[in-house]
Amino acid sequence: MMQAGGNSRETWGSKIGFILAAAGSAIGLGNIWRFPYVLGESGGFAFLIVYIACVLLIGLPIMSAEMVIGRGSGRNPVGAFRVLLPGTPWWLAGAVGLLTGVIILAYYTVVAGWTLAYLYESATGLINSFNTAEAAQQAFDRFVGNSGLVVFFHFLFTVLCILVVSQGVKGGIERWSKILMPTLFLLLLLLIGRSLTLPGSGEGLKFLFKPDFSKISGEVILLAMGQAFYSLSLGMGVMITYGSYLDKRTNLFSSTGTVALLDMTIAILAGVAIFPAVFAMGLEASSGPGLTYVALPLVFSKLPFGAVLSTFFFLLLSIAALTSAISLLEVMVSFATDELKWVRSRATVIMAATAFLLGVPAALSFGVWSEVKVFDLTFFNLYDFLTANILLPIGGILIALFAGWAWKKGAEQEMMQGSTQKTLFRVWLWTVRIVAPIAVGAILISNLL
Ligand code: TRP
Repeated sequence: MMQAGGNSRETWGSKIGFILAAAGSAIGLGNIWRFPYVLGESGGFAFLIVYIACVLLIGLPIMSAEMVIGRGSGRNPVGAFRVLLPGTPWWLAGAVGLLTGVIILAYYTVVAGWTLAYLYESATGLINSFNTAEAAQQAFDRFVGNSGLVVFFHFLFTVLCILVVSQGVKGGIERWSKILMPTLFLLLLLLIGRSLTLPGSGEGLKFLFKPDFSKISGEVILLAMGQAFYSLSLGMGVMITYGSYLDKRTNLFSSTGTVALLDMTIAILAGVAIFPAVFAMGLEASSGPGLTYVALPLVFSKLPFGAVLSTFFFLLLSIAALTSAISLLEVMVSFATDELKWVRSRATVIMAATAFLLGVPAALSFGVWSEVKVFDLTFFNLYDFLTANILLPIGGILIALFAGWAWKKGAEQEMMQGSTQKTLFRVWLWTVRIVAPIAVGAILISNLL
């Protein structure tokens, strides 16, 4: 009962701590294994311009909307809608977010588990002796096919999330974000230094950045919008939850701008760390697991001190995954402490265990349950499809409509605290009212077709 009421609620210790935690949520696997490939394949600098426009038109407005809902209510996503417009069905938007969060966490921790396994194997020198792409692929297939091992690392990663989140907002999430995010940045710089000094690395830069405006089509614009939305962790209430721990003096506009800038910078730098090395080794560009668990281990195998570089890379990837996963867990924990009045430690363990169990079928999707399908998809692919393509866009639209129409007066009052730019507010209001719902609606429809 000690957690009841808004007064005893924790707050961030500093603005930079909050920004690093929010950036930690945004910076995840999407920045490292997806953005660089999409950038290179979809027009280089030309794509970058489109992407920046999407961040400005959709990303920033929706992120601000989430933060303003969070700070205005001082609650978790379900409680937030209930406090701001009591007696209306808007709380369902928060409930959808909560559900989405559990499902994302379930499969995100599976991939994070693979990453931990590769980190362990890199550090102990078990991988990085591949001669061919086939050998690297076989090693990956063998590993993900070993369901016992995959579930073990899935479990281990879940325990890491529990350790951080059970320590609270300031003492856990903020403290670890302040350690992990600079570490991630440093590791990235080290890998960039190595990648760029390899002979033939220029090809990789050309792949990434060479402007090709002929690639920009309606489809590519939708791709950029979807990537911006996913990369900023929008649509399920992470930023509502993190915003609920904000004090009233913090300027919401400048905070969201900084988070988006950090997210994009790391995504671009990840490309600079990865593709010059991939091209220097004569390999082809790819994305997803094929890039991180097959092509890169082969690259590291061919380099002097490859085991060290490989360890750095998988440490970086583990950090990126961890700071995203804890934000997902915190959404559920804030719900349990606010609404169910559980103490934090209990909430953390029960919520993490729920996501872990839900994740087990996803962990088995590459092994013993590879033939078990729902709607023709393995559990892993089902979770991914359902959340990224359907639930997150629905959540995003609801959040934008809520902030722009249903709760507009309150949003204005809340947003003007810590900021005085009336014009900026107007621009924001019309983007969340019209532009963002239409754009995210278009993403949703194209995903469904
Ligand atoms: N932004 C994360 C990434 O780039 C993925 C993600 C999407 C996410 N939605 C989220 C992470 C919600 C945490 C919470 O990989």
